[in-house]
Amino acid sequence: MLKSQMQDALNKQINAELHSSYIYLAMAAYCAQAGLMGMAHWLKLQAKEEVGHAMKIFQYVIDRGGNVALSKIDVPKGSWASPLDVFEAAYKHECYVSSLIDGLVADARTHNDIATENFLQWFVAEQVEEEASAQEVVDKLELATNGAALLVIDQWMASRS
Ligand code: FEO
Repeated sequence: MLKSQMQDALNKQINAELHSSYIYLAMAAYCAQAGLMGMAHWLKLQAKEEVGHAMKIFQYVIDRGGNVALSKIDVPKGSWASPLDVFEAAYKHECYVSSLIDGLVADARTHNDIATENFLQWFVAEQVEEEASAQEVVDKLELATNGAALLVIDQWMASRS
């Protein structure tokens, strides 16, 4: 059985993951409107992954006999200065989500909730990947000094499966 504070914290994280999905969808729309369909594809897949993260926590709360409480999802920002600006924001956002996961692990430890701490280890590992994949795009975009280079990166991002 989940303690109510842990349940509330997990419900907040469900909202944070769904908000992440919204952020990536907004970024996908921005890239698609700029004709960068590979980046839009990458971001749409990321948006789907975020829903998957939310659903993983959703199911965990249910499995532990808790109550899922859904809350309003904040409206994401809708415009950026450039593709680099988009992916720098994505990287910063993932660092923020990592800090949220770390906070949940700390909560689980405070409540001596070993099952939740164990459950959260998947997210700890996932955040390492999430930060690295956003950083990889930022690194490439920083090297792209012209439109042709940008299109090569866009093509590479279209191959994300
Ligand atoms: Fe669910 Fe990208 O963190």
